[in-house]
Amino acid sequence: MFYIGVDLGTSAVKLLLMNEKGQIKNVVSKEYPLYFPKPGWSEQNPEDWFKETMDGLKELLKDKDKSQVAGISFGGQMHGLVILDDQDHVIRPAILWNDGRTTKERDYLNEVIGQDTLSKYTANIAFTGFTAPKILWVKENEPENFKRIHKIMLPKDYLAYKLTGVFCTDVSDASGMLLFDVKNRCWSKEMIEICHIKEEQLAKVFESYESVGCITEEIAKELGIPETVKVAAGAGDNAAAAVGTGTVGDGQCNISLGTSGTVFVSSKNFGVDDYNALHSFDHADGSYHLMGCMLSAASCNKWWMDGILKTKEYSKEQEAITKLGENTVYFLPYLMGERSPHNNPNARGTFIGMSMDTTREEMTQAVLEGVAFALRDSFEVAKSLGINIERTKICGGGAKSPLWKKIIANVLNIKVDVIESEEGPGLGAAMLAAVACGEFKDVEEAAAKIVKVTDTIEPEPELVALYEKRYKTFAKIYPGVKDVFDILQED
Ligand code: XUL
Repeated sequence: MFYIGVDLGTSAVKLLLMNEKGQIKNVVSKEYPLYFPKPGWSEQNPEDWFKETMDGLKELLKDKDKSQVAGISFGGQMHGLVILDDQDHVIRPAILWNDGRTTKERDYLNEVIGQDTLSKYTANIAFTGFTAPKILWVKENEPENFKRIHKIMLPKDYLAYKLTGVFCTDVSDASGMLLFDVKNRCWSKEMIEICHIKEEQLAKVFESYESVGCITEEIAKELGIPETVKVAAGAGDNAAAAVGTGTVGDGQCNISLGTSGTVFVSSKNFGVDDYNALHSFDHADGSYHLMGCMLSAASCNKWWMDGILKTKEYSKEQEAITKLGENTVYFLPYLMGERSPHNNPNARGTFIGMSMDTTREEMTQAVLEGVAFALRDSFEVAKSLGINIERTKICGGGAKSPLWKKIIANVLNIKVDVIESEEGPGLGAAMLAAVACGEFKDVEEAAAKIVKVTDTIEPEPELVALYEKRYKTFAKIYPGVKDVFDILQED
């Protein structure tokens, strides 16, 4: 049997074909454009997602026994606002998770409705990238579009809708909308009212590993796969990645180094920290998780390599880095503003500490280290909550770099378990499809049978000490330049 995982990312959709033993039989990636209509804004066309997904599925299944496909599921970029009219037409481009336009709406929610109230209703507070402030933004800035809204959905749910005709979502992704009662795994009536919408405009909610239905006859014909192919609700990309790295059950940690960077801690029990510093969301295994999210992680390195150095030789550039822990250059990785822990869409990328003898290698190293230091910011919050994390899994494009993994192990002073495949969300999504089809009893069983740790990177005490000192310096930079970010915004 084959199970397909669709990882609907920000730079590309990655499709993965897995057999019933959890072996990966094919992987295909299809890019689509990302638009930044204004500084700090970020949009994509849902039609592009669907087109590239369909093309990718065809390529994925080429020369494969299509009759063996049993299930499909998704890991999707979270929080994006996709709105459809009563004819199912997309009303406007999707406003993505890293879009910072909703400062006013975020402040209204956090200050007028109040963080305590939001936390009581949803277990979370407002961040500019979350879905609810975007709904309020459309109401205020595009009233004609707001009036036409018939369905409000998340990015991956648009794909599920196009494939099955079922208007559905899952608990993990719904958690990031600020419309969802995370503790009780249902829509929050209060938040629906606060956002001036109706429950009918929101999707039916499933657990991530539940089947929402089968693909339509038309899709079956176009792809040449059976009409009996089941579609599982899937998960937000971080929860799906956690499944794909075996971060399920209690107290496990996963770091994702994708366009965003996340520190994800699984938990059997529901919990919220006093300041809502970490997101408290439902997990795809039926339980809960806490998560810190930085908006630009591997994307900082991509920006630095492709955009500034104009090179694709990532490994060669990294091979030239030999003096770990000794850099005098620092980089704040806030190219799209920052979510955890600063909640500041005005923050921007910053290099500091260069002198006449600063080299290209030191600047590259600073970018990798800046991302690791920013991940540590979220990690520190988790530690301050009494969560004891000794080891983590790691996935995402950035996890392909041995140097970056070593930097992270030493900056965070934890063991980094490397797994057979870094295809976190795609693999996790395929595993959710397999669970929905009855291949495994539950998500934990699938993870135990499929995910294999192949190596562990141990922190080195000397390097940990050097990075400890440098992290203290890094932590002083943001407070020092914060006001300048606000001035830059006004310019
Ligand atoms: C998580 C978040 C990002 C996106 C990236 O809260 O916003 O990790 O899901 O796709």
